[in-house]
Amino acid sequence: MNILRTFPVISQLEEVARNIPGWSPVDQLYTLYAMVLMTSGTDGDILELGSWCGRSSAAMGLAARLCGNTQLSCVDLFPEKDDSHQNEDGSYSMTMTIEGTVVRAYHDQTVWKEPFERDMAPLYSKHRGILEIFKEKMSQYGLDDVVSPYKGTLAAFVKTVQPKNKFRLAFIDGDHGYEAVCGDIKLTDSVLVPGGWICFDDAFTSYEGVNGAVKDLIIANPGYELGQQMTRKLFVARVGDDQFFDRPIYPLIRRERVVEADPAAR
Ligand SMILES: C[S@@+](CC[C@H](N)C(=O)[O-])C[C@H]1O[C@@H](n2cnc3c(N)ncnc32)[C@H](O)[C@@H]1O
Repeated sequence: MNILRTFPVISQLEEVARNIPGWSPVDQLYTLYAMVLMTSGTDGDILELGSWCGRSSAAMGLAARLCGNTQLSCVDLFPEKDDSHQNEDGSYSMTMTIEGTVVRAYHDQTVWKEPFERDMAPLYSKHRGILEIFKEKMSQYGLDDVVSPYKGTLAAFVKTVQPKNKFRLAFIDGDHGYEAVCGDIKLTDSVLVPGGWICFDDAFTSYEGVNGAVKDLIIANPGYELGQQMTRKLFVARVGDDQFFDRPIYPLIRRERVVEADPAAR
């Protein structure tokens, strides 16, 4: 008798978190994984802004592979060693040239000295840049044909999106400055299908840029009908879709019931 053995998703995601440098904790990886599956009844692919070495990408990629007909596009500046520079206060910012265009990141909300020097800088000693690590990790999980990296800004990526290739789910985890997140929300909104979801990392934590942008452009926006904090730092919101509200058992709360952040989550 053939016995099919699989191993639990949570164990797979714990392994992903151990193996791939990054920031998303296991509860968030599990939620992103579930969101990919949960949205499989809606047309469209998955978009990630801010992939770094591919930790959250692998979680969503594994779920996309299970869906069968879903692709994940990962947009990131994928920096190289010399793209980062230290500011006077010890924190770090990035400036690089991609296809002739100068791109600046982390100039408003900079990267703190300690995580940069402890977690980020050492990666450049063995690899030319972050894209090399990203590709290596996706291959390890057999995700080469599901996950496509795009080195550049979201603005540049959106120009490449065909109207028929829109997205049902987007995870925003790039520059955390207010103006940057507002720009990313507007661009993401332009490529989401009706009824599509946006997930925000670091919402309602100490990142005031993310908090302000989510409040101003999502919670105050009647075009987004549902919102819910899913984990300590992952907030999700859904573009309005009237038909969707006819399903009475849907578990998320409606926009008008979104309350202020839990102070304990800081
Ligand atoms: C916190 S990391 C992402 C972590 C990742 N989601 C994980 O699970 O580990 C943020 C990423 O955003 C990228 N980034 C920052 N500003 C960006 C921009 N303007 N356009 C594209 N990517 C950007 C950085 O290069 C970095 O890889």
